[in-house]
Order: sequence, then structure tokens, then C-alpha cells
Amino acid sequence: MQHLETLHIAGHEEVVVCRDDQTGLQAIIAIHDTTLGPAVGGTRMRPYPDRESALADVLRLSRAMTYKAAAAELDFGGGKAVILGDPQRDKSEALLRSFGRFVDRFGGRFMTGEDVGTTAADMEIAARETPHVVYPRDELRDKWQTGFLTAYGVLHGIRCCARTALGSERLEGVAVALQGVGKVGEELARMLAADGARVAVADLDERRAAEVAARYGAQLIAPDRVSDAEAEVFAPCALGGVLNDQTIPRLRCRIVAGAANNQLEHDRHGAELWRRGILYAPDYVINAGGLISALYEMALADRQTVMARTAGIEARLRLVFDRSHRDAIPTNEAADRLVEERLRAARERSRPTATP
Ligand code: NAI
Repeated sequence: MQHLETLHIAGHEEVVVCRDDQTGLQAIIAIHDTTLGPAVGGTRMRPYPDRESALADVLRLSRAMTYKAAAAELDFGGGKAVILGDPQRDKSEALLRSFGRFVDRFGGRFMTGEDVGTTAADMEIAARETPHVVYPRDELRDKWQTGFLTAYGVLHGIRCCARTALGSERLEGVAVALQGVGKVGEELARMLAADGARVAVADLDERRAAEVAARYGAQLIAPDRVSDAEAEVFAPCALGGVLNDQTIPRLRCRIVAGAANNQLEHDRHGAELWRRGILYAPDYVINAGGLISALYEMALADRQTVMARTAGIEARLRLVFDRSHRDAIPTNEAADRLVEERLRAARERSRPTATP
């Protein structure tokens, strides 16, 4: 039997706890804002210690999706789902199909896909119950989407940063220190090397770092030295929270621009970078390539269009930097302001006009 419990959370449109006694499913679906369109966001599966931590995660992530989609000028809102459980142990076809049935209840107001702890194959199973779960439909696409498109957007973002902070968007000879050479970082290393940048890479997985360095002629650096490497650009492509009280004073770069989500430990760290004259590319603006690819998964755009819209990150970042300059505010605040204005304008437009 399926149970739905609605939680009333200020600032969120709809938050529901989903339980299915038969399959053991426990999930939370959070719709943050649908002003711009249906809420999109992945489904994360983790062995959360308790319901509170799962709820905190889904609320934070769904809100971030609203900002990312709005900043990418997509007609999507923000949402997210979390399944409470161990992805190695607790997944079953019955559980995933039950989750799909819960998603279906939203009638398209919430659209989801894979995320940390879930795979395209899991989403294919959930999609047997609803058209509102999307997943890559051919082999190549998964790689095209996750690594390639996100890196492609970050590359365009770095070019915009270089024009702003170094006076030219040409990356030839520009030193870039890359933290993390996973799906996104490796692609980015390849693209930067092709542009003639001087790339240095670091990864906790030393073998992987060495392989990537050899493949693209990059220098190898120790993971604990990457944030203070002598380089014009620091590109975090591993973890969140890398810009904090410990790392910021050690930075020697002019630009921070990378794929990692939630790079600033706190918003005030954006102000600290700005005060030090380091140009920060707000993470949710520069790393939107993966989200933009949802247009392709939903059959709303072809590959060429998706590539062009991802390249558009360069222009959207330009708007953020112009706004930061005009209002004399840190770039992360400028990005938030632009998003909030877009949401406000859309709300105004959809408000029914008063009859005289
Ligand atoms: P991944 O898991 O494939 O790669 C991350 C790499 O970082 C791994 O090789 C890991 O060993 C390394 N790493 C972890 N901690 C490190 C540290 N302290 N120092 C150096 N290396 C470290 O992840 P993926 O998909 O490449 O994503 C990277 C970042 O970009 C994540 O923060 C992710 O949330 C974000 N992101 C990814 C998108 C995608 O499409 N895959 C889209 C938008 C953001």
C-alpha cells in the first residue's frame, strides 16, 4: 500500500514523503518552484541516517535546481527526490517501480532522472510506471551528457572568465589547475589541452590522475596542493565546499571556475573571493550543461541545439559579471539577483490582471 504524507515547508511549493509498505520504499519528493515550468531534478539514493537529514538534503537540492534552471534560461522549475536506502543493497525492481508510481501522481509537475546512487538502468525501470522519469536512451548518450556537456559548458565559462580577468578569452598558454579528473574533469582536461592551456591535474585517485596527465600532456600535482597551485585558473571539479576559510587565503589564482556543485562553503566566501579580486564563476551558472541536456532526453531539442545552449553559458556568465560590476556586488550575489528577478518577472506575468 502506498502512503503519501504532505509536509508544509515555507518556501517550497510541495513536499511529500512517500512510503510503500510492500516494497519498503521510503522517499521524499520536493517541488521547490514551478514558476518557470515543471520542476526537474534527479533522484538521489543514499543511506541517510534519518528522515531529517534526507529532508534537509532534498530541500537544499531542489532549491538549487530552481536557481540552476532559471540561470540557464530553461523553462523548468526546481525539484528533487531522495530515496532513503543503500543503493548497493536496497534497490529492487519493485521498489523502483513503486517510486515511478509516486512520480506519476504529480502528472508531469515533477520530472526526474538519475543522480548520485541511481543509474540510467534504475530510471528505465521506474519509467515503466510513468512518462515523467527520463533516462539516456542510447549507449553513447550517457557519456555525451554527463562528462562532455558539463565540461563543454565549463570550458565556455572559463573563456568568459579569461576575457574578464585576463583581457583575452584565448586560453593558449593560460595555466589551469584542475581538481578532480572524473567524468567532467577528464573531459575538461582534454578540451583545455586542445585550446593550448597549460593544464595541471590532481585527483585522490592517483592512478587516474597519472593516466589523464599522460593522455593530455598535463602536469601532475598532489591533491593537497591544487588549490594553492601557481595558476591563473583554479577549476574545482571534485567536491563541494572547496572555497572556505582554509583554502581561500592560500589561493594564488585570478579565476575560480569549475564544475563542482556548492563550491562556496558559505555565501560569505563569495564575498571574500570578490574582496581579494579573484573572479568566481558561480557554480550553478557554469555547470548547467548536464541540466541543459535534459532538453534532449525529453525530446525537446536536438543535440546541436543542446550544444549551442550549453555554449551560451559564456554569454550568461557575462551578464552575471556585468551585474556584479554594475552593482558592486560579489558574483554569487549577482547570479542570485538575476535569477530572483527572472522568477519575479515570470510571477508578475502569470498573475491574473484585475478587471476594472
Ligand atoms: P566523478 O565522481 O566522476 O569525479 C570526481 C573526481 O574527483 C573523482 O575522480 C575523485 O577521485 C576526485 N576527487 C574527490 N575528492 C577529491 C579531492 N579532495 N581532491 C582531488 N580529487 C578528488 O564526478 P563528476 O561527474 O566528474 O562530477 C564532478 C563534480 O561536478 C561534482 O561536484 C558534481 O556534483 C559536479 N557536477 C557534475 C555534473 C555531471 O554532469 N556529471 C553536472 C554538474 C555538476
